[in-house]
Amino acid sequence: MPKRDFLTFADLSSAQVNSLFDLAALMKSGAFREKPLAGKTLAMVFAKSSTRTRVSFEVGAYQLGGHALFLSSRDIQLGRGEPITDMARVLSRMVDGIMIRTFVHADVEELARHATVPVINGLTDLYHPCQVLADLFTMREGLGEYAGKVVAWIGDGNNMANSWLDAAALLGFEIRLACPEGYEPDRAVFERASRVTRTAITEVPEEAAEGADVVATDVWASMGQEAEAEERKIAFKGYVVDAELMKVAKPSAIFLHCLPAHRGEEVTDAVIEGPQSRVFDEAENRLHVQKALLASLMG
Ligand code: CP
Ligand code: NVA
Repeated sequence: MPKRDFLTFADLSSAQVNSLFDLAALMKSGAFREKPLAGKTLAMVFAKSSTRTRVSFEVGAYQLGGHALFLSSRDIQLGRGEPITDMARVLSRMVDGIMIRTFVHADVEELARHATVPVINGLTDLYHPCQVLADLFTMREGLGEYAGKVVAWIGDGNNMANSWLDAAALLGFEIRLACPEGYEPDRAVFERASRVTRTAITEVPEEAAEGADVVATDVWASMGQEAEAEERKIAFKGYVVDAELMKVAKPSAIFLHCLPAHRGEEVTDAVIEGPQSRVFDEAENRLHVQKALLASLMG
């Protein structure tokens, strides 16, 4: 059987997402007792910081009977210029799967092309598919089926926004984005999603949030954009998810944020700590969903 990667939502069918979530729900309930990763090792390569991704993959691999290796790019030879193609072939001879968090998405594609073991995208500048998988699972837990649902994305058209667009296209829900001019999602990703599902883009947060089932946002400056933080604070003024904006969405709407969050910038304390917020379930679900992913790719 050829190895399977998870680099973007293009690697999954909607049926596969649903069966992955059935398995994740079983794992979350505590009823799953198998050890599909027994004797197996996941290498985790990080060129950026992480709390949730690192801990959920490491704990997940352990709970499935396997082992995970944390490899900071500052400490491995990758950081000194060893080609990704060489790292791919060397790691493939020793480990059973590779998770990578880095900057350039093409680097992850190159790693996947040269590795003979499954490769998982733990975030690039372009996509964050593992996070959006957990978000979709959280959405399913709170709201049921995807058909007819509306997701409002408020703020930066970043890696999270791009993965949400892919997810909307795959599962057939509507997505509306409110982004300041110059901070829209990737044009090709937006156009691809627009061909298969209802999409909208506006500069007015209330227009995106009107009647929405999910209101989601993320930081104004992502990892790697620290130098732009001050100019972004000006550009994103007005793109705050606050109680007023939540009132425009459905009363049953849930609030999602991948975390870490900057309270008082993209979201108010009242919303993130409020009754509609699901952010800590969302963070916990990284563990359950990625365990299902590890079992299906490496088990
Ligand atoms: N949401 C997320 O990916 O968090 P970390 O950066 O802490 O891994
Ligand atoms: N968009 C954020 C997500 C962090 C989990 C970033 O890339 O830094």
